[in-house]
Amino acid sequence: MTDKVQKVLVAGGAGYIGSVLCGMLVEQGYEVTAFDRLLFSAEPVEPLLDKPNFTLIQGDLRDTSAVSAAVLGQDAVILLAALVGEPACDRDPHETVDVNYLGSNVVLDACRYHGVERFLFASTDSCYGIQEGILYEDAPLLPISLYGRLKLAMEKEILLRPTDNGFCPTILRLATVYGLSPRMRFDLIINILTMHAVINKKIKIFGGKQWRPLVDVKDVARGFIAALEAPADKVRGEVFNIGHNDQNYQIGQLGQLVTDVIPGVATETIDQPPDLRDYHVNFDKAQNTWASRRSTPWPRGSTTSGPPSRARPSGT
Ligand SMILES: NC(=O)c1ccc[n+]([C@@H]2O[C@H](COP(=O)([O-])OP(=O)(O)OC[C@H]3O[C@@H](n4cnc5c(N)ncnc54)[C@H](O)[C@@H]3O)[C@@H](O)[C@H]2O)c1
Repeated sequence: MTDKVQKVLVAGGAGYIGSVLCGMLVEQGYEVTAFDRLLFSAEPVEPLLDKPNFTLIQGDLRDTSAVSAAVLGQDAVILLAALVGEPACDRDPHETVDVNYLGSNVVLDACRYHGVERFLFASTDSCYGIQEGILYEDAPLLPISLYGRLKLAMEKEILLRPTDNGFCPTILRLATVYGLSPRMRFDLIINILTMHAVINKKIKIFGGKQWRPLVDVKDVARGFIAALEAPADKVRGEVFNIGHNDQNYQIGQLGQLVTDVIPGVATETIDQPPDLRDYHVNFDKAQNTWASRRSTPWPRGSTTSGPPSRARPSGT
């Protein structure tokens, strides 16, 4: 732990990533406050409630007073809270704008106003949309959903804020996350394929050729902590892709991997994918900025992993 950052507010701390991240931060001795509307209950962080260095505040990003009070006195704020994923965001676009853009800006401005130095934002590789080649952080951003467009709009807002008073905003663009969390999400590609393989002995693959980079939820939590602990001048105003180069997979490969691990599973392929996102991402920048610690490599062997060393395309 650095000398400086001790008090960390995790907005969205009771969610899929947040509950894993809060657990790790508490374990490492940070003073952690989770601020969450508790859309999926408080259960994911209940085991932390008896820890002296953990506090849970039930609150909404759109409640300016509640956000201001929660942010005041923190050394760092990690903004995970959002309506997450395309289907959830399309259900009520007005509410999505209120939470993912206007509410997120409330947190950003409260940090600036109250002099919170570190602000970490969870963005997404969905910002890349549909693109060929290997995508670095400076690739064009072409989101194809409201979810992705609002993440991009927030990235722009964050990078517009002056940093002259020591403000240190950092954007982490996450690959699609997988793995176990106290708040499980079964709408994420690996988690849902595994669930169907185990329960129904059948998986459906929509399309198959689309590239989808993946990352273990524990590695995402480690990424946030590494960014928090990195020298401010290395991460101020920077964007980092969070994932691993050898976990870029095509959807069809993922189906194959799941059926290799779980025997006796039938695969149905449906030509028209409802989700057209297609991006192959490079993750060197984070790796080169902080020594990346990662979970046990998954899956074993590399025969189906994406090409590791395609040249960087020009103009990205
Ligand atoms: N899981 C992924 O694959 C993935 C990939 C890229 C980016 N992200 C980003 O990471 C962040 C966390 O995602 P997650 O997978 O943990 O999702 P999640 O839905 O499990 O967690 C979101 C949390 O935010 C809370 N929340 C929602 N609206 C709120 C509001 N108005 N006020 C306060 N709290 C509110 C929810 O109660 C929930 O606990 C999101 O910003 C998401 O866009 C996730």
